[in-house]
Amino acid sequence: MNFPLDIIQNTPTPFYLYDLKLLHNTLDACITESNKYGYHVHYALKANTNNEILQIIKEKGFGADCVSGNEVKKAIEIGFNPEDVAFAGVGKSDAEINIALDYNIFSFNCESLPELEVINEIAKGRGQVADVALRINPNVNAKTHHYITTGLEENKFGINMWEMDDLLERLPHLTNLNLIGIHFHIGSQITDLSVFRGLCIRVNEIQDYFVKKHVQLKHINVGGGLGVDYENPDTNAISDFATFFKIFHDHLKLLPNQQVHFELGRCLVAQSGSLITKVLYVKNGVKTNFAIVDAGMTELIRPALYQSYHHIENISNTSEANEKYDVVGPICESSDCFGKAVKMPHTKRGDYVAIRTTGAYGEVMSSAYNLRDRVKAVYV
Ligand code: LLP
Repeated sequence: MNFPLDIIQNTPTPFYLYDLKLLHNTLDACITESNKYGYHVHYALKANTNNEILQIIKEKGFGADCVSGNEVKKAIEIGFNPEDVAFAGVGKSDAEINIALDYNIFSFNCESLPELEVINEIAKGRGQVADVALRINPNVNAKTHHYITTGLEENKFGINMWEMDDLLERLPHLTNLNLIGIHFHIGSQITDLSVFRGLCIRVNEIQDYFVKKHVQLKHINVGGGLGVDYENPDTNAISDFATFFKIFHDHLKLLPNQQVHFELGRCLVAQSGSLITKVLYVKNGVKTNFAIVDAGMTELIRPALYQSYHHIENISNTSEANEKYDVVGPICESSDCFGKAVKMPHTKRGDYVAIRTTGAYGEVMSSAYNLRDRVKAVYV
């Protein structure tokens, strides 16, 4: 990316810089490829709930995938159609269920029988029928970081198939629920796309089970998880939507009139964002040099939480990167480190540094720890 130094130098750091052209191009690529098969894509708000970004995604016609009552409210305030809003989450509170019922959303993606019982009870009290989908734990390995793997039996998410017989016996008694489909989400930052083929095969088996039980399902929601290239943000700025959707087209067996839904977050927004920070001090250690920057884990927690890699570059000095620095923040935690032995040119106080691919799970996971100011955003 060509960083607009004039804008950067006139903006107090740290801040998120969003490249809206890349955002538009990414969303358009996703739409083109998913439209080939008539698939519905819901944007997973959890990746980034910045108003400007949401507005653009809404205008392109995406649905919304929410995981809290406040995300449901936010999606509808921004203008997403309630009929395209799904509400997932393993621990929906009564207040959140009520919010979603207020808006008559598309679907509650339900994760347990106790949750179905509660939604039924609340809906009954309001004289409503809630549309629900069952989130099923398919026991498929997403081959990603274990903190963002969700589709294994050891994970808290979803209903296991061995619970399904009992659940389907109980369901007809829950008269204020209307079962509209099944839902899966096996994990995030999935780069081995053969994993999705495995998911399709498992979904087909699960569909056979429901057919045998004479349960009709109109909607199949296969979740999100398509990864992005953190190593090469410039040469591989847009994820391979064509291959991704084609895998589902080729391997997912659908019954007549079934509709397929996706909940994509990261791959729609990650590459459009960079965290821009300024070098405060350079400290020469015994074994390593530290570039101490003014952003910390409060602005971007991914490296501290998942040991995740982000490409880091000195955008003030573009000469050859022939020195190594540990790029660290000012927070009183040793894990407040964005990258170790990062290759950069000679770096000095006042240089601007870009931490790339931070448009997803960056700003939205920021905190006020150490009473830090809320991080700002700038759009180009
Ligand atoms: N649907 C459900 C039910 C989910 O739990 C998630 C993400 C998504 C969709 C969207 O997944 P995506 O397309 O973005 O991979 N904070 C972590 C990622 C957590 C993902 C949680 N669930 C990170 O920074 O890597």
